[in-house]
Amino acid sequence: MQHLVAAGQLTPEVLTELIAKAEEYRKLLETTDGRQQLRALYPDKIIATLFYEPSTRTRLSHESAAQRLGMGVVSTENAAEFSSAIKGETIEDTVRVVAGYADAIVIRHKETGIVDRAAAASPVPVINAGDGTGEHPTQALLDVYTIWREMGTLEGLNIVMGGDLAHGRTVRSLAQVMSNYKGTSFTFVTTPQLRMGDDIKQLLGERGVSFTETNDVHAATKEADVVYWTRLQKERLEDPTLEAGFVIDEQVMAGMKEKSVIMHPLPRVDEITAGVDADPRAAYFRQSHNGVYVRMALLDYLFSQK
Ligand code: CP
Repeated sequence: MQHLVAAGQLTPEVLTELIAKAEEYRKLLETTDGRQQLRALYPDKIIATLFYEPSTRTRLSHESAAQRLGMGVVSTENAAEFSSAIKGETIEDTVRVVAGYADAIVIRHKETGIVDRAAAASPVPVINAGDGTGEHPTQALLDVYTIWREMGTLEGLNIVMGGDLAHGRTVRSLAQVMSNYKGTSFTFVTTPQLRMGDDIKQLLGERGVSFTETNDVHAATKEADVVYWTRLQKERLEDPTLEAGFVIDEQVMAGMKEKSVIMHPLPRVDEITAGVDADPRAAYFRQSHNGVYVRMALLDYLFSQK
């Protein structure tokens, strides 16, 4: 794996290695000695973060991960406006140039598939930080790590995904990755306009992974091990009046299994009420913190490739 552009690259073998490394880094970060040890690992590397779409978690956690490993960071947080893309530069030319300034490039872009083009042109590793309605593989990585930490296993889980499954790239990536594990089943809670893409449903069918679609939040979440909720991606909707209308609140939580977990890639708008936050099963803030450990593991993995 030279680049990470798609969740399909995150096989169970790769994930086992990355999770073990993330755990190692998590432990080292707990002590001053460990932190110093980590900062000595990659003092000669620099990463570039090129974000053509807004981000809080993905950009900052990649930058934090790089700095915790001793790397330097160069960054443009609003590349759509403040990079030379606005003058008409192609993504291929941009990465060829940035590869002269940095040893890896993290890209978020509104156009689906553009990170593949960037990777094809880049002599240094490219990481897909989210491309349009396509993929968000590093989010899938931190999601799987979170599921493993919270549930103690990646097998035999009933995963309920809800909200905007048509435009949300995190659910697409996570569904692909979790479908590799024995006994996974999915319930998609959604409306006809916001359904999971046919390409993902076809993949699940080919892999023999069972899935159902419903609009009944209470019935679906009652049997869930993992509830993965998402916001309506208003910025990608043709019809701005569309609503998902599926809310996780204390009443829904009361019907859920004691051993289960609520996840959300964040940002949250109003689809999980604040009253849920204090419930020990609400893992979304722990989930976002996990992004640093797995992105440290990923950078190490990419820089260790021969
Ligand atoms: N989960 C996620 O991708 O968050 P950001 O948009 O803040 O990076």
